[in-house]
Amino acid sequence: MHYSEIIAGTMTWGKWGKALDVNEMAKRIEASVSFGITSFDHADIYGDYTTETEFGAAFELSGMDRSSVQFITKCGIQMTRGRDHQVKHYQYDYDYILGSVEQSLNKLRTSYVDALLLHRPSPLMVAEEIGRAVATLLERGQIKSFGVSNFLPHQVDAMMRFTPIEVNQVQFSITHTDVMYDGTLDQALEQNIVPMAWKPLGAIFESDNEQTKRLQEAAKPLCKKYGLSLAGLSIAFLKKHPAGVLPVVGTTDTERLAELNKGASVDLALEDWFILLEASQGRRVP
Ligand SMILES: NC(=O)c1ccc[n+]([C@@H]2O[C@H](COP(=O)([O-])OP(=O)(O)OC[C@H]3O[C@@H](n4cnc5c(N)ncnc54)[C@H](OP(=O)(O)O)[C@@H]3O)[C@@H](O)[C@H]2O)c1
Repeated sequence: MHYSEIIAGTMTWGKWGKALDVNEMAKRIEASVSFGITSFDHADIYGDYTTETEFGAAFELSGMDRSSVQFITKCGIQMTRGRDHQVKHYQYDYDYILGSVEQSLNKLRTSYVDALLLHRPSPLMVAEEIGRAVATLLERGQIKSFGVSNFLPHQVDAMMRFTPIEVNQVQFSITHTDVMYDGTLDQALEQNIVPMAWKPLGAIFESDNEQTKRLQEAAKPLCKKYGLSLAGLSIAFLKKHPAGVLPVVGTTDTERLAELNKGASVDLALEDWFILLEASQGRRVP
């Protein structure tokens, strides 16, 4: 499966964020594709189960060819908002997975998604049963590939006994670097799994803590050197990792998207990358 070097995340396009109307969403889709960002990340839950529907209408309005873009969606989280449940929980039985994909396809107005991901690991998931559901979906042509999200390496291994895993979408940014050390990115390299990084800007625009202060300071000369914004530099940091990380970016702003796209094509010098790592960690490498 081929994805664009940056993936457009739709989590805040609808009710969970900017509440874009269908026309505005169509414009965002067109702008993304004009930058070569052809892959779109969804989940059934976004907008309390409403954003896929709006995006489906917007994509139709754009008149774009379905085969020129890739849709990723996720299943498995049962929310209390938008559904009548007492408690938020995870569900991964055979019938539930098939039903969830059917709903996503209807909402997105498409006959297939390019990738289906399990949104989060559940202590109660049964890999063999999930494998059967994936086999059925692949056979029906409703999904082109299968993957997971927020899975640790041993959870990926357990699942891979029953079905191939092509993607692991995990939290990774200049302020959240755990996946470089917990085996996730090593496994991606070794097993040819595509690592997608959600929240790729991490906390850089969120909190004024010691870490972000250090990063902002260290980034100043580097932003100048590479002609990048802090956001663009943060994307370049992720792109340097040899596992071939695909950042899933959440901005709804076209100019910001252009900055991030620029960062994706910049190859940071080795020492510059370590300057940023040192600023992130607040200590020298051992
Ligand atoms: N698999 C999972 O469990 C999981 C979890 C969370 C998210 N995701 C996926 O990851 C995607 C991205 O997540 P995210 O939105 O948290 O990631 P992000 O790209 O790290 O953050 C984007 C946020 O930063 C803001 N921002 C402020 N200044 C910016 C600048 N200069 N450039 C770019 N953005 C700037 C954006 O607001 P504006 O819109 O105003 O620019 C937006 O709210 C989601 O849409 C979703 O598809 C997956």
